[in-house]
Amino acid sequence: MGTNIRRSSLNSPLYLFIMNKVLPFENDGPRADAIEKVTGRAKYAAEHRVENMAYGVFVCSTITKGTILSIDEGPARASEGVLDILSFKNCPVTPGYESLLADGSKNGKQWWGLKVLYDNVIRFYGQPVALVVADSLEKANAAAQLLTIQYQPEAFETDFHLAKKDQTKLKSSGNYTRGNTTVLDTAFAKVEGEFNIPVEVHSPLELQATIAVWEGEDQLTVYDKTQGPKSLQGALSRLFAIPDKNVRVIVNYVGGAFGNALRGWHNVPAACIAAKKLKRPVKVVLTRPQMFNLTGYRPQSWQQITLGASAEGIFTGIIHHAVSMTARYEDFREGIVNASRFLYACENVQTSYKLLPLDVSVPTWMRGPGEASGCFALESSIDELSYLLKMDPVELRLKNFAEINPESKLPWSSNYLKECYEKGKELIGWKNRSLRPGEKKEEGMLMGYGMANGVFGASRGQASVRAILIADGSLTLESAVSDMGPGTGTAMIKIAAENLKWPIEKIKFVLGDSQLPPGPTQGGSTTTSTLGTAVHLVCEELKKSLKELAVTHLEEFKNADSTSIEVKNGAVFLNEKSALINILFSRSNKTAIEITKDSQGTSAQELKHATHSFSSHFVKVHVHPKTMEIKIKEVVTTADAGKIISENTARSQMLGGVVWGIGMALKEELLLDHKTGQILNANFAGYRVPIHTDIPKTTVWFVNKPDPIINPIGAKGLGEIALIGLAAAISNAVYNATGKRIRDLPITPEKLGYKNK
Ligand code: MOS
Repeated sequence: MGTNIRRSSLNSPLYLFIMNKVLPFENDGPRADAIEKVTGRAKYAAEHRVENMAYGVFVCSTITKGTILSIDEGPARASEGVLDILSFKNCPVTPGYESLLADGSKNGKQWWGLKVLYDNVIRFYGQPVALVVADSLEKANAAAQLLTIQYQPEAFETDFHLAKKDQTKLKSSGNYTRGNTTVLDTAFAKVEGEFNIPVEVHSPLELQATIAVWEGEDQLTVYDKTQGPKSLQGALSRLFAIPDKNVRVIVNYVGGAFGNALRGWHNVPAACIAAKKLKRPVKVVLTRPQMFNLTGYRPQSWQQITLGASAEGIFTGIIHHAVSMTARYEDFREGIVNASRFLYACENVQTSYKLLPLDVSVPTWMRGPGEASGCFALESSIDELSYLLKMDPVELRLKNFAEINPESKLPWSSNYLKECYEKGKELIGWKNRSLRPGEKKEEGMLMGYGMANGVFGASRGQASVRAILIADGSLTLESAVSDMGPGTGTAMIKIAAENLKWPIEKIKFVLGDSQLPPGPTQGGSTTTSTLGTAVHLVCEELKKSLKELAVTHLEEFKNADSTSIEVKNGAVFLNEKSALINILFSRSNKTAIEITKDSQGTSAQELKHATHSFSSHFVKVHVHPKTMEIKIKEVVTTADAGKIISENTARSQMLGGVVWGIGMALKEELLLDHKTGQILNANFAGYRVPIHTDIPKTTVWFVNKPDPIINPIGAKGLGEIALIGLAAAISNAVYNATGKRIRDLPITPEKLGYKNK
C-alpha cells in the first residue's frame, strides 16, 4: 500500500493530514467529494454491483511476436463456474470492427487501436489472447490457468537503442526550421548532449475496469474508468453501430488516471462483447501487472540537443532531435520537441521528431505528454550552458526571455515566468547556491541547487453545462465529464459561487454520466478552462433570468433597470429591497429554473494570442559523498496558471507533480528483457515510485493572476506543468552538488559513480 497509494491520495484531503507540513489554504472550501472519498462511500468503476454479474479475466500472450497455433480450452471449459471462453476463434466481430468505424478512421481518430481477441496475431508480450468468463472472479482466475496455448513465435524487436541504430527503421513525424542553425558552428559557447528517458508508466491506484450491462440487443450501460464519458460513449456507439443515446457511460469517481484513461483499452470492448454474447453483465478488471502495458505508458525516448550562445548569453541556436518508441500496429506521437521552438527567444531553431515502431503495446499520453520528456533535455542543456558561460541559470533564462511566442509570433495571453523566478529564488534560498559545482557541503553531504522550467499549451474546448436552481436556493450544475482526481467538481462549484456570490454549500456539481449535457474529456490541462467557461456562462444566464423574473413578478422591483439589480446569497437585491429565491419563485409561480448553456472552444489563432501555462521548479539536494545517495531536501514549485480557482486542489496538483518529478528523476524505469520481450518489473516491488521518505518539504507558489484572454474566468491549465521541468530541476541540482551531469533517467548512485565493491 505504501507506494501505490501515493499518487491518487495526493488529491485527497487525507494527504493533508498525513503530511503535516502541508496545510490547506485558509478561506478555501473543502473538496466537494472529500467525505465520499475518505469514508470509502465513493464508488469506483469496479465497485458497482450489478445483478447476475459474470467475471472476465484476460489470458495474455507469453510470446512477444508470432501467431497462435492452437488453444486447448477443454479443461478450462470443464472447470466449475465457467460460462465462456472468448478468443479469436469465437469472439463475435462487432459491426464497428468490421467496417473500421470503431477507429473513427474517417476522421483520423483512432480509438480502440488493436482490436481485442480479433485475430491470431501476437503483436506484443502480454497481449490479451483469451477472455475467460465465469460466475465468480475466483473461478475465472482458476480456469484461466488451465488454457493451453500453442504459439508459433517469430523474431521480434523491443530494444529501442539497438533498433534505433538502423536509421531506416525510423518514421519521420515532423521537422521544423526557423533561421539558420549553422550559426552554432561558430557559437561562443555551445553544449551538445544526448538524453535518454526509459518507459515510465502511469501507476494510478485504481485499476482499469469495465462493467458492461446490456438491455436487449441495443441498449448498453457501461461503468468504466474513463477520463471522457462522452468520447467513450461515442466510441462504443460506433463499435456496436448503435445510436449514441443507446449507450450510457457512468464514471462517478476516478482513482487517478493521468492520461491512461483517455481512451478505451482492451477491457472495454472485451467486457461489452462478452456481455452481449452471454446476455448477462460482465466485469473485466485489469490486474496490476496488466496495468504496466495494457493501458499505455510514456514512450522511451532519445533526444539530442545542441544549444549555443554568445558571450553575453544570448541563445544563438537550438537544435533538438528526438526519437520515441511506438507500437508497430499504431503510431503514438507527442510534442517532445515543441517547447524548444517557443519557450525562449532564439532566432535559429531546428527540430525533428521520429518514431521508432517496435513489437510493443502502444504508448499513450502521460502527464505532461511530450513536454515532460522534452523539457528534461532542453532545461538540462540550458543549465549546462550556464556553467560554460559562468552565469546564473536564472539570469541566463532571463536574458533569453521570449517577449512573444517566437514560433507563432503571437503575443502571450499572459506569461509571468519572471515572477516565478523571483519567488522561486527567494523561497528556496537561491543565494546559497554555488556557481561552481561540487563545491558546497552541508551536514557532511554534497549540497546543490537547481531549477528548471515547464510549459504546456493552455487551451479551451467545447462544453455544455446545465444549471438547475430550486426554490430554497440550491443550485445543481451538471455536465458529462469525469474527475480523475484534480477536483473538477470543487473547482466548478467555486467558479459558480464566485460568479453568483452564492454560498458554496448551496451548490452541487454532478458529473460522471454520459447522459448529462456533453462535457469535455479530461486531459491536456484543459478542464478548468473549458468547463469553467461553460459554468461561467450558465451562471451569467441564470442571473439574467432571475433579474428578469424580479422585474416582472416582484412589485418592489417593477420597472427597475435590471442592471441595478444584484444577485447574491440566494436572493435578488435592488438598493435596500431584497427577495429570497423562494419568494421570487412563488410570486412567479415557478418551482425551478433550468438553463443549459454551451461554450464554444477557441484557438490561439482566434484569440490572436499564444496561450500557455508556465512553471518554474527550484530544488535543493544533498548527495552522500561516498554512496552517492541522492536526498532531495526541499522543493519550491511555482506556476503561472492564470487565476487559481480552487487553491487547495490546485496545490495538491502541484504536490502531485513534485512527487511524480522525483519518481521520474530518480526512480521510474520499466525494464524489458529483450531476449523474451517480457516486462521484468510489472509490479511495485520492481517498478519504483516515490515513497513518503523521498518527499521533502515542498512549497507551492502561484502567480495567481488571471489570464485576460483565454476565457472569462482567467484560469489556464495546471496538471501538466506541475510535472514538466521537475526532472531537469532535480538533475540540475544534482549537477550543482556533484559536478556530474546525468542525461539518462533515472539518476542513480551508480550513474553518479558509486561502485558497489
Ligand atoms: Mo493527461 S496526459 O492531460 O490525461
